[in-house]
Amino acid sequence: MSDRPRLLPLLGTTRHGSRDAMTCLYRCGNACDHPVPNTSDNTYFGDLVEGEVTRRGVVRAGAVGALVLGFGGAAAGALAGAAPAGAAPATPVVPEVADPTAPQRGVGSGALTFKPIPPNQLDTLVVPNGYDHHVVIRWGDPVLPGAPRFDLHGQTAAAQAKQFGYNNDFVGVLPLDRRGRRALLVVNHEYTNEDLMFPGFTGLDNLTVEQLRTAMAAHGMSVVELERVDGTGQWRAVGQGRRPYNRRVTALATKFELTGPAAGSAWLRTAADPKGRTVVGTLNNCAGGVTPWGTVLSGEENFNQYFVGADAAPAELKPKFDRYGITTTARYPSGSRKWERADERFDLAKHPNEAHRFGWIVEIDPFDPESRPRKHTALGRFKHEGANVIVARDKRVVAYMGDDERFDYLYKFVSDKKFMPGDSWVARKNNLTLLESGTLYVAQFNQTSAAEIDGSGKLPADGAFNGTGRWIRLVSGNRSFVDGMTAADVLTFTRLAGDKVGATKMDRPEDVEPSLLTGKVYVALTNNSDRGKAGKPAADEINPRNLNKHGQILELVEDRGDNTAESFTWSLPIVAGDPADPSTYFAGYDKTKVSPISCPDNVAFDATGNLWISTDGNALGSNDGLFATAVEGPERGHLKQFLTVPLGAETCGPFITGDNRSVFVAVQHPGEITGASVEKPASTWPDGDYAKPGVVVTWRLDGGPIGS
Ligand code: FEO
Ligand code: CA
Ligand code: CA
Repeated sequence: MSDRPRLLPLLGTTRHGSRDAMTCLYRCGNACDHPVPNTSDNTYFGDLVEGEVTRRGVVRAGAVGALVLGFGGAAAGALAGAAPAGAAPATPVVPEVADPTAPQRGVGSGALTFKPIPPNQLDTLVVPNGYDHHVVIRWGDPVLPGAPRFDLHGQTAAAQAKQFGYNNDFVGVLPLDRRGRRALLVVNHEYTNEDLMFPGFTGLDNLTVEQLRTAMAAHGMSVVELERVDGTGQWRAVGQGRRPYNRRVTALATKFELTGPAAGSAWLRTAADPKGRTVVGTLNNCAGGVTPWGTVLSGEENFNQYFVGADAAPAELKPKFDRYGITTTARYPSGSRKWERADERFDLAKHPNEAHRFGWIVEIDPFDPESRPRKHTALGRFKHEGANVIVARDKRVVAYMGDDERFDYLYKFVSDKKFMPGDSWVARKNNLTLLESGTLYVAQFNQTSAAEIDGSGKLPADGAFNGTGRWIRLVSGNRSFVDGMTAADVLTFTRLAGDKVGATKMDRPEDVEPSLLTGKVYVALTNNSDRGKAGKPAADEINPRNLNKHGQILELVEDRGDNTAESFTWSLPIVAGDPADPSTYFAGYDKTKVSPISCPDNVAFDATGNLWISTDGNALGSNDGLFATAVEGPERGHLKQFLTVPLGAETCGPFITGDNRSVFVAVQHPGEITGASVEKPASTWPDGDYAKPGVVVTWRLDGGPIGS
């Protein structure tokens, strides 16, 4: 990539790293204006120098419960109970569960032969030669049958609640029939940008209550029935007929059931819900995952910004609010959304427990549109980026999760009950309860080369950023392992529990996903502008650069290849940035052949086990994009850029279908550049008028597998 073009400085105003000020305001409530919430002194010294850790070989294929979401071909043969198009939901369809003992072909074969695209600042979506792309659905498109046509100048909450929401983030695609012709698209709508949604916008204080309620209805999730186009890798939203699975979940009206040990606890009771078991709405749903039993998990992330009035909340709650980034020194935090004008439960002076009812992992069953989605307290409460599940060897399920904040932690949950394969009524009933009880752990990392870490990113003499680590038990069912905290305390104020037990402070753990082919776990650590600043933790081997602008990828290998293990080894296969920058590392691969990457955010796998990485906030000046690399064999570290998204946008999703023929990404916040408005858009993607977030599918024109 030595001949790559020079890039112009980004337009607009950048604040946090390379993020535009407008994204800081709307996406995370100006998080960088607020102090880092983790002020605990649990700096972990641990075993600063250990013996050299031998990187484990490939976990034998089939040694873990390998699960494949099937599309077409042999995979589709295992699907059962498909409802005919337009029919009422009947027997749910669950993804195929492959025989875990069957040999896997081509795990991490690294056959990524597409020609990488160069970094660019184009206001369009760019894919490699030989590929095409299409917008599947965009903000305002109908989701529910009978949804009114989108009306930019007369949008209402009632209309928006039937239409595709704003700022799509997580993308899951679940097969709906045996032939791979129909599927359900499940999408998160993380946040809204009122500057870019309402013509004539003059400030959040000037919005009408109906406009505030419209923004609430544009949050949440969508379920949309898709159909394959002419046997290709292209998919489109079904535009006619009953579409019985189509659904909108909103922050405005959808009721959620709280499950698990903290449900009903005093922390979760409010005047409107004295039993503490039912919450209206979900907030700031970021990443997520598709479970092996055919449901979708969604992480409630920067929920703090929706609340005001914590300055007048009970004194004993203030340290807890502070630890979750909820401002306690002023009625209106910087970046406040002003939703209390539409619904007083967002005023913590009046309803102090309402904030505790957000920050959970949500589970939705897209195959049962009447089902009530749930918030699982057993998975803890923090700024959940997402959750991804693997079935362990003993059939318990393990969910891996990140808390996306500077200096926060990495977690995992191990269920008490065992996964039952198949889509029988008994199996389904069992599997839907798997995330309601289990053990929650937080990660603590040891280092092999601590004395050599100087914050520059220089590779240690042993040739790797690596070490061992352990999962520290926080709570198991109703039993707490944290001094002075009950199980409900630990689950509701999980960050405080992590502080007490000496968890390792990380560089913003975002998406965490196990490879279903090897059982190894990959973590996107996006960046950390405060690492090494005065009074802040300095670089360590797992977060090896001070003022970390570009982030890194962590690979975690559970001991004995057992995802329920309480110890692991780890290494950093990628330390991101411009390959010409000596602080970068690409698993030892020839850096002249590697694409520049900055701020890894979401990760996914294709059917052969290659790792796909999307970015958020490229600090190298290019638009954000999607990249892929092998993680096993000689091509490990050969990272190539597959697509870029339009100006101002972030690449979310991504999702690669099990037949390897389609790559879905969510184009989030196109044109989100300070000074932009509906009338003066900074991006006109996708329709040439004003910016609209939307979901895109990419496929190979010759019908071949993606990437190769
Ligand atoms: Fe919503 Fe951590 O990104
Ligand atoms: Ca080392
Ligand atoms: Ca994200």
